[in-house]
Amino acid sequence: MKEHLPEFIGRQAQRLIDAGIEQAAAEIEWILCYLTGLDRLNLYLNGSTLINDDIIARFETIMQRRIAREPLQYILEESWFYGRKFFVSPAVMVPTPETELLCETALRYMRSCGHDNPTVLDIGVGSGVASVTIALEMPTCRITAVDISEEALAVAEKNAIDLETPNNMDFRQSDFFSSIKADERFDLIISNPPYIADCEYADLSPEVKADPKLSLLGGTDGLDAVRAIIAKAPDHLLPGGQLMFEIGYLQGEKVCALTENDDRYKSIVILKDLNDIDRVVILSCGE
Ligand SMILES: C[S@@+](CC[C@H](N)C(=O)[O-])C[C@H]1O[C@@H](n2cnc3c(N)ncnc32)[C@H](O)[C@@H]1O
Repeated sequence: MKEHLPEFIGRQAQRLIDAGIEQAAAEIEWILCYLTGLDRLNLYLNGSTLINDDIIARFETIMQRRIAREPLQYILEESWFYGRKFFVSPAVMVPTPETELLCETALRYMRSCGHDNPTVLDIGVGSGVASVTIALEMPTCRITAVDISEEALAVAEKNAIDLETPNNMDFRQSDFFSSIKADERFDLIISNPPYIADCEYADLSPEVKADPKLSLLGGTDGLDAVRAIIAKAPDHLLPGGQLMFEIGYLQGEKVCALTENDDRYKSIVILKDLNDIDRVVILSCGE
């Protein structure tokens, strides 16, 4: 390549900035790492020797799609979560870093709950980032992962296989709890449900609008899925079990109000994310 790599990256990043894309330089680096098979450090050390006309042509094809505001994760069919690369397609929501807080909280609870083989139910598994991460980080646990979307389940199962989870996952198509037997109980129920209010949809970025609507929209106030999960979760939790789920901006107080008169839940804790926004609700059943 004739141009110095940092200059090339700066020039290409400007094209993304002009299209309204933030984190533009990081995206250019990601595309070049994808095309060269190098990590970021080696991209800067050796990348310019590998970037030939063929790579530049493929780079340009990716850029055209990205400038049209297609999410880079769908273009490259990959997304990073908890240090691992997951396959993604437009059948699933692009995972967000906030969901790592849900995983960390779930893992902390399971490590402290005193069982050798804790059981987990994940409602709305999507690409599988939360369930597969938990399955890999805690191989002794058993996970039941459900989604209403068969296409999403296929992506989650592919990730479980590709990332070599230790055969501790059971995938089921289910409308919330519909495929969970009446007597099935879990130590932990987790969910990152659709939680965007219908009226907020129009203002979302083109990248978020590329996610399946099924994974985004939660009705008039965004809390339809949360209500459905809160209503049934205690029937499927073991004594002392917990329900943990992700919420959206300004939903913490509304979720408190939803559960304050429900004496099946003994306590509620709301964790904030790195941006100081209420993000994960923890509801405990029993002692
Ligand atoms: C916000 S996405 C979360 C996906 C993934 N868990 C993650 O964190 O990236 C919500 C998921 O819930 C699923 N879903 C929506 N309605 C559902 C329902 N009634 N029953 C089960 N899953 C549902 C969607 O298909 C989608 O995969």
